[in-house]
Amino acid sequence: SKEVEKIIKQLSFGHLISLQMISSGICGSDDHVLKGKLPMKFPLIPGHEGAGIVESVGDGVSTVKPGDKVLTLILPQCKNCDSCLHPEGNFCDKQDVLPCSGVMLDGTCRFSCRGKKVYHSFRVSTFTEYTVVPEIAVVKIDDAAPMDKVCLISCGVPTGYGAVVNSAKVTPGSTCVVFGLGGVGSAIVMACKASGASRIIGVDINEKKFLRAKALGVTDCLNPNKLKKPVHEVVMEMTGVGADFAFEAVGLVDTMIAAWNSCNNSYGVCLIAGLAPSDAQLPLDAVRILSGKTLKGVCLGDYKTRDCLPKIVTDYLQDKINIDPLVTHQLPFNQLHKALKLYHAGKTIRCVLLF
Ligand code: APR
Ligand code: ZN
Repeated sequence: SKEVEKIIKQLSFGHLISLQMISSGICGSDDHVLKGKLPMKFPLIPGHEGAGIVESVGDGVSTVKPGDKVLTLILPQCKNCDSCLHPEGNFCDKQDVLPCSGVMLDGTCRFSCRGKKVYHSFRVSTFTEYTVVPEIAVVKIDDAAPMDKVCLISCGVPTGYGAVVNSAKVTPGSTCVVFGLGGVGSAIVMACKASGASRIIGVDINEKKFLRAKALGVTDCLNPNKLKKPVHEVVMEMTGVGADFAFEAVGLVDTMIAAWNSCNNSYGVCLIAGLAPSDAQLPLDAVRILSGKTLKGVCLGDYKTRDCLPKIVTDYLQDKINIDPLVTHQLPFNQLHKALKLYHAGKTIRCVLLF
C-alpha cells in the first residue's frame, strides 16, 4: 500500500552518492560555522554551496548516475515529509541545519582523518575533493552548465532571488531596503530590480560593497555606522512612509530589528533571509504588530530545491538571470585560506573555490 511504501522510503537511508567536487562558493553560513555561531560538532569539513560530478552511487539511488553534473543542497527535498508534501513548504524534515547533527541520515560519518571521525556540515561538506551526500541532497543540472560558477545556484542565488520573487513577491514601482550586500543581499537586489522595484536602498557597514551593489540596481546606499540616527529612522525619512519590502541578509538580530522597523507599518513586508546565531532571541514591540505589517522568515528562497534549482540553472544558460556579477573571485582549492582572507577582508561577493 501507499502507507507501507512511504515507511520504506523513510527508512531507506542507503541512498548515498559520492561526488567529485568541481567548485564551491564560500557562503555567509560557512563563516557562521567557522565562527562557532551554530552548535556543530568538530572537526568537520565545511562548505555547502557546491557543484560537482557524481562519482558513484549507492544502493537505491535512482535520480542521478555517475557522470551527472549536480548541485549540493543544504536544504534537501525528501518529497515525503509534511513540509515537502505541503504545496507551500520547503523546509524538509531531513535537513541538517537546525540543529546540525554532523552525521548522515543513518547516523554514520563518511569522513575520517588518522582514524578519527570527521563530521559533515549540513550533510553536504563541499570543501573537499570528494564528498558523500544523501540522494535527497543533490539535484542533476543541465550538462551545459558552466561548473566554475553554477555552484552559486546551490545556495546564495536562490536564497536571495526566491526571498524576493517567491516569498515577498516584490511589486513593480515598490521601494525595497536590503540589509547586507554580500552574496545573498546582492541576489536580493538583482531580483528586486528584475521585479520592477523603483527604489532599492542598500545597507551595509562595508562601503566597499556599494559600487557593485549600485551596478546591480541599488539606488541609495547607507552605512549605519556613519549615520547620526538609527538606520530605520533614516529609511523612514527617505521614504516618508517606510519601505514596502525590507530584507535582512546579514544574520544578526540588530539588522533584523532594523529591517522590521524600516518597513511600512500597515502593509510593509519584512523578510528574514539571514541565519541568526543559534541561541539568539528576536525582541519585537508586541503592540506594533497590530498595525498589519508582515514578518516572514525564508530559507533557500522558499524553493523546493530538487524541483526548482535546475530551472534556475537553465534560466542562467538562457540569459534570463545573470549570476556572473556575483562571482568576483575564483581561486584553486589549495588557496582556501587566501580565499577566506579575501572574504573576511570584505573584498568578495562570492569567491568560488575550484578543484
Ligand atoms: N549591518 C549591515 N551589514 C552588515 C552588518 C551590519 N551590522 N554586518 C555585516 N554586514 C554585511 C557584510 O559587510 C556583508 O557585506 O553583511 C554582508 C553579509 O554578506 P556575506 O558575508 O557575503 O554573507 P551571505 O552569504 O550573503 O549570507 C548572508 O544570509 O543565508 C544567510 O547564513 C547566511 O546569515 C547569512 C546571510
Ligand atoms: Zn549558503
